[in-house]
Amino acid sequence: MTLPKLPVGSKLAKYCIIQGGMSIRISFHRLAAAVAAAGGVGTIGAMGISPAELVREIRQARLLTEGVVGVNLMYAGILCDRLLEVCIAERVDYVAIGAGFARGPFKALADAGIPGFAIVSSEKAARIAARTSGVTGIVVESGQAGGHLGPADTEVSIWDLFPPILTALREAGFAGPVIAAGGLLDHEDVLRALEMGADGVQLGTRFAVTEESHASDEMKSAWLQAHRSQTVDWSPTGMPGRVVDPHPIHKLPRLGDPGVNCINCLKHCRHRESGASHCIWNSLNNAQKGNVGRGLVFCGGRIGEIHDLLTVDEVFHKLLVRDNSPTQKPFPVPKIKVI
Ligand SMILES: Cc1cc2nc3c(=O)[nH]c(=O)nc-3n(C[C@H](O)[C@H](O)[C@H](O)COP(=O)(O)O)c2cc1C
Repeated sequence: MTLPKLPVGSKLAKYCIIQGGMSIRISFHRLAAAVAAAGGVGTIGAMGISPAELVREIRQARLLTEGVVGVNLMYAGILCDRLLEVCIAERVDYVAIGAGFARGPFKALADAGIPGFAIVSSEKAARIAARTSGVTGIVVESGQAGGHLGPADTEVSIWDLFPPILTALREAGFAGPVIAAGGLLDHEDVLRALEMGADGVQLGTRFAVTEESHASDEMKSAWLQAHRSQTVDWSPTGMPGRVVDPHPIHKLPRLGDPGVNCINCLKHCRHRESGASHCIWNSLNNAQKGNVGRGLVFCGGRIGEIHDLLTVDEVFHKLLVRDNSPTQKPFPVPKIKVI
């Protein structure tokens, strides 16, 4: 079966496959551009970076590909509005917003003519998003996703979560693309998601464990060695999260530890405000830079099934062609220059 294309504003992605935004600095220009060049939708993760750094990432991605490249913002981030201004000024192809919701950012995107995707994990949030001007696409993210989690049941699969939300969205008159995310890895998953009524799929972890991902080699090794994930409820954001199991909870950096500085990344931070838990930015930054012993390695629930570091092209091959298919030939993926 040929996968459908995915319209994103005035652009058309060749395949309905989105690489989910991954902060901090996991999905930067090289990964997003490789995905876009392969025919999917590449997403730069913008949480925890400065507006100037985001400008650089968008422009570097643009040098590499004319494919569809957007930006992921977290509403919980203190710089969300300023990063959104960058997205609008740089005319990115789309903006996906998760970890909280407000109408303002989507209105700004609508005024600028840039597609806005809301990331939701409940029927209630989906109905609100469906009524919001500027929300042109909706990503439904299950409890099996990597990173911070939205569903009330943090174990819920996309197969259980998605159908009632899709029904609610269509009942509410939402006609834009509805994307399934969280716990998807291969061609069979993509087909099952499409059969379930999804217009496309979003993957995070599988794209994080690629040559082009901006994670350190140590973080990639931690993913490859992991047998399972676990959910944790101590993120300073107040949201649960999914990380590799085991993980170094007692060694995670706290403000006041040598070399640990607050960059004031969240609107509300339980660590900064009450000393609870640890510093999320330093924890994620440590892992991205290679100090996984004192870092937080976010991952999806299928991490134990990822045994190989692939290129983005190879991941696309797995998504587009059934494993060991005798009849299907590999599809051609355009090459990009990786800088
Ligand atoms: C390392 C990592 C970092 C992530 N960071 C973000 C983020 O900054 N913003 C966001 O909306 N989602 C984030 N996610 C979620 C992904 O965008 C994606 O929706 C999710 O991982 C899909 O589930 P999968 O990993 O099972 O494919 C992150 C996921 C991972 C694995």
